[in-house]
Amino acid sequence: GLEPNWTMDNLVETLTADFREKVGSDRVILALSGGVDSSVVAALGARAVGKQMTCVFVNHGLLRKGEPEQVEDVFTKQFDVDFIHVHAEERYAKLLDGVTDPEQKRRIIGTQFWEEFFTVAQQLDGVKYLAQGTIYPDIIESGARKTGGKAATIKSHHNLIPFPEGVHFDLIEPLDHFFKDEVRALGTALGLPDHIVHRQPFPGPGLAIRIIGAVSPEKLEILKNADAIVREELDAYNQRLFEETGERNSEHSCWQYFAVLPDIKSVGVMGDERTYQRPIILRAVESSDAMTADWAKLPYDLLAKISSRIVAEVPGANRVCYDITPKPPATIEWE
Ligand code: XMP
Repeated sequence: GLEPNWTMDNLVETLTADFREKVGSDRVILALSGGVDSSVVAALGARAVGKQMTCVFVNHGLLRKGEPEQVEDVFTKQFDVDFIHVHAEERYAKLLDGVTDPEQKRRIIGTQFWEEFFTVAQQLDGVKYLAQGTIYPDIIESGARKTGGKAATIKSHHNLIPFPEGVHFDLIEPLDHFFKDEVRALGTALGLPDHIVHRQPFPGPGLAIRIIGAVSPEKLEILKNADAIVREELDAYNQRLFEETGERNSEHSCWQYFAVLPDIKSVGVMGDERTYQRPIILRAVESSDAMTADWAKLPYDLLAKISSRIVAEVPGANRVCYDITPKPPATIEWE
């Protein structure tokens, strides 16, 4: 945690100096997911060692609409690091073809991630360090992680990194003393944009676990388009609450919100035409730690707007349902 008397500027200076001293003239590699933690490490590394650090962004094609472009933009234009965009979308699509079991999806996505990452890592010369966005709660949790079978996270505990035979990097984990809110503050101090610093939690397996049943390019397209509308409307809603209350997480703000695509179709009518298309499920929850959650009591007019926008703007979707189940007994995600 933060020591008393430390200003954010002090902290940034100290962490930068520590990072630079540890790395010396060696090279560092980082798996950059676009999430808060790895982005803060990337921004810190950029400040400390610049292009001695290579950020490997494995694009599995399962991120939300516009996200890969945003990540690339920030870490090529705003921060001076060596950035590698690994286009693994087609490889992932093949591996996931026909796979319906949620845990099997997670395993495939997690395994392929390290495969992609180490393939790139082994092609780089003279890399001594692997930087990781491990934060303090990760270390606490990783000992006795109980996530109902959903533990396949990218930043598992140190010794769980599946280094291939004969490959080893020393770890640098500059955030391992900090809590999430401190990491966000650090991100802001380092100049990261708000859309990264205040990014809502997003699962490592991405949209694959929000498409119930097998993933396909058509379903991904529908989900990305619907999810973009959900985020646009709820980002704006949260922003209004923030301006009214001055609190980022006020009583009614949504903590996590997204669209889910179930594996069914339903009948609808548009103009004079009968449609037979997919419903979109809206999931929006209030929570503080994801252990428990309640469905957000969103205003009816906001729900109405989200619904009418989705059926009007997303080809292939003709119905919107709102999930009104708390956790427990449901989970936040559908898979
Ligand atoms: P559930 O669905 O279990 O989710 O209520 C709790 C929180 O964890 C996120 N989540 C995941 N994060 N890999 C991740 O990195 C996963 O496989 C995974 N599954 C769920 C979920 O988005 C929520 O914030």
